[in-house]
Amino acid sequence: MLDCAFAAFLFHSSPPRSLVARRHAAMDARCSLKEAVVITGGTSGIGRAIAQSLAASTDFKVIVTGRQQQQQQQQQQQGQEEESRVTFVPLDLSDLNSVRQSQELLLQELEGCLLTRLVLCAGVFFAPQLKTKDGFESHFQVNHLSQQLLFSMLEPELRKSAAMGGADSRVLFLACGSSLFGQVDMADWAKPEEAVGVRGVSERLRRSCSSKLCNLLGMRQIARQYREQGIVANAIDPGLTSTRHYQHFLPPLLQRLLLGNARVAAILGRIFQVRSAERAAAGAVWLLTTEEVEGITGEYFVQDPLGMRNPRYLTQLPEHVQDEEMAAELWRFCERCVEERR
Ligand SMILES: NC(=O)c1ccc[n+]([C@@H]2O[C@H](COP(=O)([O-])OP(=O)(O)OC[C@H]3O[C@@H](n4cnc5c(N)ncnc54)[C@H](OP(=O)(O)O)[C@@H]3O)[C@@H](O)[C@H]2O)c1
Repeated sequence: MLDCAFAAFLFHSSPPRSLVARRHAAMDARCSLKEAVVITGGTSGIGRAIAQSLAASTDFKVIVTGRQQQQQQQQQQQGQEEESRVTFVPLDLSDLNSVRQSQELLLQELEGCLLTRLVLCAGVFFAPQLKTKDGFESHFQVNHLSQQLLFSMLEPELRKSAAMGGADSRVLFLACGSSLFGQVDMADWAKPEEAVGVRGVSERLRRSCSSKLCNLLGMRQIARQYREQGIVANAIDPGLTSTRHYQHFLPPLLQRLLLGNARVAAILGRIFQVRSAERAAAGAVWLLTTEEVEGITGEYFVQDPLGMRNPRYLTQLPEHVQDEEMAAELWRFCERCVEERR
């Protein structure tokens, strides 16, 4: 939360009187409201660890979305105090109608709060279904399309919060190293059944990488399009993390070894630099809370493998990630996809 006294001190000097009065009014409004964060994919893995950490160490109202309310409730019943401070809103990203329907509930939860953080963390890897019920390629819709729709639904709230508080609202994407190797393939996303070799391993890998590239292009588009409105966007690669993200990829035996046995997981983790969800979440939490990144937008951060240092951003992104025209075209393509399935 913004420290009101410190903010008042900062704003109390040279600007013209009307501006000072406006800023004070904005600060009064902001000070009386709680800041809120919405986290997609907050029911498990890294998203859940981000939610817990924010609930435990900040005053944010934490709202998580996902499909598995049952799991969320069990976690709450298991008595972890942080979990009981987390609110759940059901939302299935493979169904555009479900995303639209979540809007009312989200806005209800945000009443009396300022939405200043949006974490787009939900993701699927090696999705078992080729396409969603809306007919789009699964990785594309779950990892990107539906989350762009969610951003558009919440964008007025993010903008309003930035205007009221004089600090940027932050959008954070959970990226992945593989996103740097993805390709834009709109024809495949719209009609995945027409592609050759649809169920092959390399096909699923390619689609997963492409959907994560969309996240980066979307992040860059938000950074450009909404900078003036006080919304900044960045992405972070948390690194290889032991979660159920690989449930459709790893053979069951390897999964049991990696995820089921803490000792084996620790040894393998050390060899392959696999980290826990908590450690993976630390960089994201830092980006969401520190004043050090105020004003930074459009960057791709990489988590330190040992979680000892703060994440650093890559100074040189590959050319296709920096392609502004491609990012704008993808943004419009997604808007059309959403519009067509109304
Ligand atoms: N694990 C890694 O090594 C790694 C590495 C780099 C980047 N990442 C990125 O980090 C993010 C989080 O991954 P994770 O490792 O925490 O994975 P995870 O444990 O499998 O969690 C994925 C989250 O996404 C949600 N989700 C999946 N499909 C959904 C759908 N159709 N509708 C709504 N929510 C859905 C899940 O919620 P429900 O099941 O409740 O729906 C869950 O909360 C992903 O974006 C991933 O690409 C992970």
